[in-house]
Amino acid sequence: MSLDLAYFPDEAAPAARLARALDARLCPVATHRFPDGEILPRVQAPAGEVTIIYRSLDRPNEKLIELLLATDAWRRAGAGRLILVAPYLCYLRQDVVFAAGEPLSRDAVGGMIGRLVDGLITVQAHLHRTADLTQVFGIPVRNLCPTEPFAAALPTYRAPVVLGPDEESAPWVRAMAERLGGDAGNLKKTRRGDRDVQMALGTPVDVRGRAVVIVDDIASSGQTLARAAEWARGAGAASVDVAVAHALMDEGATERLRRAGARLIVSTAAALAPLLAQAVREMIGRL
Ligand code: R5P
Repeated sequence: MSLDLAYFPDEAAPAARLARALDARLCPVATHRFPDGEILPRVQAPAGEVTIIYRSLDRPNEKLIELLLATDAWRRAGAGRLILVAPYLCYLRQDVVFAAGEPLSRDAVGGMIGRLVDGLITVQAHLHRTADLTQVFGIPVRNLCPTEPFAAALPTYRAPVVLGPDEESAPWVRAMAERLGGDAGNLKKTRRGDRDVQMALGTPVDVRGRAVVIVDDIASSGQTLARAAEWARGAGAASVDVAVAHALMDEGATERLRRAGARLIVSTAAALAPLLAQAVREMIGRL
């Protein structure tokens, strides 16, 4: 089956890696920007039955409009099935209405994406109170766990402690600890604001003299990882490395994280192509 892999110019490198892994034709989307800020994407006519759209949805507001317009263009050009590969999936934080007057962002945005494409593949989505993404989006969704790409990207440790910054990270922390041959532990996070978090020990674990790997799904301000790294250093860890699936931090936050004691900051962005390609093949078989 011939496959098209559509991408936007700012993501040419990861799209090319995925296209190579899938032996797909690369189809760039050109976007014109009008003087007032409106955008006009122009897509290539699909050649195959399936078009894969590579679009990681970090900093998503403009990307969502672009996706809305581009998928309309693909449908009008006769596209068959559209599969969105979005390694980072946006707007999952607000997975309940926390306060009166606020939206249920997860369902509002998820429902919109689900009406645009036929299948969705993402990586280590931020799931605190969401049991089933397929139900939220109304289409088949695969949420991939990047345990293997992380194991390949991290150094070889002798019995490390894998530490999660909050209770929700426990399942992934356990999986990484098993894969790296170490122990699992979790901190207890109290968030007081977007850039104000505090850490205390959750599940008991002794990090004294040991290599610690802190794992998390997303770093935004970087405060969570920085406080966790400080905690591990303060508790006597021999070294502290950080493995974060989606490092959305800016340079300043990365520097603050280093100052907090993080030695290596590893994200899997460059090593995801084989995992994504396998998921794409499996999803094509299901659609
Ligand atoms: C929260 O539940 C997530 O797993 C991350 O820990 C959080 O989003 C990180 O945010 P920040 O980097 O702003 O502390």
